[in-house]
Amino acid sequence: MTLKTAARQVRENAHAPYSGFKVGAAIRTGKGNVYAGCNVENVAYPEGTCAEAGAIAAMVAAGEYDIVEAYVIADSPAPVPPCGGCRQKLAEFAGADVQITMATTAGRSETATVGSLLPGAFTASHMAKDG
Ligand code: THU
Repeated sequence: MTLKTAARQVRENAHAPYSGFKVGAAIRTGKGNVYAGCNVENVAYPEGTCAEAGAIAAMVAAGEYDIVEAYVIADSPAPVPPCGGCRQKLAEFAGADVQITMATTAGRSETATVGSLLPGAFTASHMAKDG
């Protein structure tokens, strides 16, 4: 299945009664498998989770840790960029060169690399005591 199809389909299942803004995300791993996730909002607003977080959780639950491509889609006038927190979550499992496609349900799309979305990322090297 293409990432576009997976993201479009999973978006339909989003639980977004508070924002009314359904998001779908799909990621492909180094093994070629596709994992999808949607946003899951909560009446206690800060407890809601983003579509990207859901897709990443599904990937990790399946025992995979290597994102080679990702796709995010929403019904918005312009392609939706991942939020700041999701950029960091993607960077945990995706190299700086990995392409993230941001799309609208109407058919617009833009692509950016993880590195361009999260310049100056916090990495494990920043925790090195002799760094
Ligand atoms: N949202 C995502 O799921 N991913 C993004 O990249 C941007 C925002 C969700 C969170 C919330 O449920 C809704 O969109 C409005 O912010």
